Amino acid sequence: MNRIAALVASCIASAALLAGPSAAQSPKTMMESPNTMMDHGFSGAEEWAKVFDDPGRDASQKPREVIQALALKSDSVVADIGAGTGYFAVRFARAAPKGRVYGVDVEPDMVKYLAKRAEREGLKNLTAVLAGADDPRLPEKVDLVVTVNVFHHLPDRERYFRNLRGSLKPGGRVAIIDHSMASREGPPRSMRISPERVKKELKSAGYAFVQQHGFLPGQYFLVFRPAGS
Ligand SMILES: C[S@@+](CC[C@H](N)C(=O)[O-])C[C@H]1O[C@@H](n2cnc3c(N)ncnc32)[C@H](O)[C@@H]1O
Repeated sequence: MNRIAALVASCIASAALLAGPSAAQSPKTMMESPNTMMDHGFSGAEEWAKVFDDPGRDASQKPREVIQALALKSDSVVADIGAGTGYFAVRFARAAPKGRVYGVDVEPDMVKYLAKRAEREGLKNLTAVLAGADDPRLPEKVDLVVTVNVFHHLPDRERYFRNLRGSLKPGGRVAIIDHSMASREGPPRSMRISPERVKKELKSAGYAFVQQHGFLPGQYFLVFRPAGS
């Protein structure tokens, strides 16, 4: 595993146990102290950006194909929950220039970073939102909710997604991308959530499975709609 892959894998693993702010570490610290990797949050956005926005990620994350598969319209309203430094959020904002994108995160430093990034990149349709752990605090209803490598961080997911139904416009969808059980990257297997379990949890939360895309190596990509919609 190269340095970036190792860092992504370890950050995702460690973040799964999001510790309080006092335990926050930077990716650099993590590389120096692998034994403490499980004890940090996602502060130090500038450092995380080197990992999340490394151009080398594109080869496996396939952002263009993901956006194409999501069939965004130019005026789509999108919520990227757990947006981090904005890897997908900025791409959504470019793909939906007449729409609005909310880059939602619980980590204040990520939110600050994303707000500055949106300004720097002239993306007036991208707004960074500080979420509560159990509430994305979306300012309006959206056409699409996306989570990438975040699902396993969310508390009481059934409740989270049941509540989220109220934030979807008619025809709205939820897309969940996360590490597959077999992937060489990602959190320890004990923390991963299988696509079967995601489907089960989303069904309990009131969603119908729409489709699964299979083109991401190491990640599953599932799409849902509120049941009965
Ligand atoms: C592994 S990073 C993924 C970032 C981004 N989605 C990407 O793919 O580059 C996980 C992100 O989820 C955020 N996060 C964790 N729990 C969250 C929650 N309950 N609500 C919103 N964001 C959360 C973290 O702060 C972090 O920025």
